[in-house]
Amino acid sequence: MAAVKRIAVLTSGGDSQGMNAAVRAVVRSGLVHGLEVYGIQRGYQGLLNGEIREMDLRSVGDILQRGGTILQTARCQEFMTPEGQRRGAEMLRKHNIDALVVIGGDGSYRGAQKLNELGIRTMGLPGTIDNDIAFTDFTIGFDTAVSIVVDAINKLRDTMTSHERTSVVEVMGRHCGHIALYAGLASGAEVILVPEVPFDLREIAAKLRESAEKGKRHSIIVVAEGAGKGEEVAKKLTEFCGIEPRTTVLGHIQRGGSPTHNDRILASRLGDFAVRRLIAGDSGKACGVIKGELVATDFDIVVNTKKPFDMELYELAMRLSQ
Ligand code: ADP
Ligand code: F6P
Repeated sequence: MAAVKRIAVLTSGGDSQGMNAAVRAVVRSGLVHGLEVYGIQRGYQGLLNGEIREMDLRSVGDILQRGGTILQTARCQEFMTPEGQRRGAEMLRKHNIDALVVIGGDGSYRGAQKLNELGIRTMGLPGTIDNDIAFTDFTIGFDTAVSIVVDAINKLRDTMTSHERTSVVEVMGRHCGHIALYAGLASGAEVILVPEVPFDLREIAAKLRESAEKGKRHSIIVVAEGAGKGEEVAKKLTEFCGIEPRTTVLGHIQRGGSPTHNDRILASRLGDFAVRRLIAGDSGKACGVIKGELVATDFDIVVNTKKPFDMELYELAMRLSQ
């Protein structure tokens, strides 16, 4: 297989803090290894539109600390079709680009997998706050999103304590409960509702009432969006035990802000790793870090593997929040 000379990078799907750090790592590592590097604006939509520009060392200056993505992102229905994928591969060939690094979630990986099948060498970086990508301990943005939720709960706990109230906090995570679990454990939430663990709101209401009778003056209930709407949980709890919780839906604030040092280091390691794997002739794989070790796993395996939910951590959170 011919050596890789020209690579491109794009960000796709929901953005996440650390994507800029990953773009910076891909561009600088590529240039340092003697490659030409191109940035594609607005994900697969920008690829189809030919929004491709050459990058240099300065193109990615002063972005390491910034949330969001300078390459922007988009969702592209056309690229879900074989014709759209073929057009994407042709556009890359037209620009003499040998390989593509895709930074995104599992949907973006499926697109990268299709390009690989069409002869474009691709590597994936796990860019999503959801942490729902298998074969990597953490995804780029997860640590920052969890730290935002923990900070918000710290603030809520102050006012809930003053008023002896219960707070319901709805967090992101799409169909998974990883953000709710980590933020719930780190903030001492009394209840953590996730799609991975069945729950009964009547039982939870009874537990809250029992805690209040034992002198617990306030409670925090974290609800993963995949487990339900915070407002609906609050309404049910009021109906079952009359506690009238106050609800906070954190929403897209979890997707902004400066990435933590953990996300910056994870993104930097993965971006450079993807470039070195492409140079070594690898492709069609998702990059990750497992127990500190850099790994590359076939897209086909990654997109068809559900990320395990950490039940041991969940049980610890419940044990310690009594
Ligand atoms: P994420 O990558 O965060 O999971 P999406 O699921 O929205 O985000 O996917 C982002 C983009 O990836 C989609 O807009 C589409 O262009 C592309 N994509 C998603 N799924 C597929 C698929 N099965 N085949 C080809 N492209 C896909
Ligand atoms: O996948 C990341 C994510 O933030 C999910 O947690 C959330 O459900 C979704 O994106 C929101 O999508 P959008 O930004 O398109 O509203």
